Amino acid sequence: MDVVKIALAKGRLADDAIVLLQKIGINFSDYSKKSRKLIFIDDSKKIKLVFVKSSDIPVYVEKGAVDIGIVGKDVLLEKQADVYEILNLNIGKCKICVAGHKDYTMNYSKKLIVASKYPNVAKNYFNKKGVFTEVIKINGSVELAPILGLSDVIVDIVQTGKTLEENGLVVKEEIHDISARLVVNKVSLKTKNGNIGRIIDGLESIV
Ligand code: PRP
Repeated sequence: MDVVKIALAKGRLADDAIVLLQKIGINFSDYSKKSRKLIFIDDSKKIKLVFVKSSDIPVYVEKGAVDIGIVGKDVLLEKQADVYEILNLNIGKCKICVAGHKDYTMNYSKKLIVASKYPNVAKNYFNKKGVFTEVIKINGSVELAPILGLSDVIVDIVQTGKTLEENGLVVKEEIHDISARLVVNKVSLKTKNGNIGRIIDGLESIV
């Protein structure tokens, strides 16, 4: 029987995703958060869990290097990969927002400088509103950009709101509700239909 490969990103979402998989009888007894190993096999030896950077999950799934990905809608909106988005897993809930310094007032009458890990999401959002923007791609700790004067605002995910609050920033506009999605490679869904179908059906019944 073909092994099914599932890609996950380490971090908050991985823990919730592993719990969901456990609930449908897929257990990774040798998995440990502290481990630096990147591939784990489940106890039945039918499913491999591979850890990749979240922004790389769409390409791994699209190219068929893995069969399934569990990834945030934020990443899917940014990457636009050719994959089947099958299920909303209702975990990893957050919002993608425009945020800025608490004293900053949004001003659409001049060029808006936006820093983001999600440049495509940011461009699409402001283009639709007809706002003239310059979008600067940042890879992390985006909250620093308006504080240090690199940008007027940021487009980023907000979960608890703690990072914004502790850095004197506030949400200015909400762009999209985000949650984790199950995505599947288009060929794998046909060739490994039985195994993948069981995973999809199992997860569908519990989310
Ligand atoms: C994400 C996001 C915010 C933070 C929001 O960053 O970019 O910085 O989480 O979470 P909160 O609303 O619960 O505070 P991440 O932790 O992925 O780190 P990064 O900045 O290094 O990308």
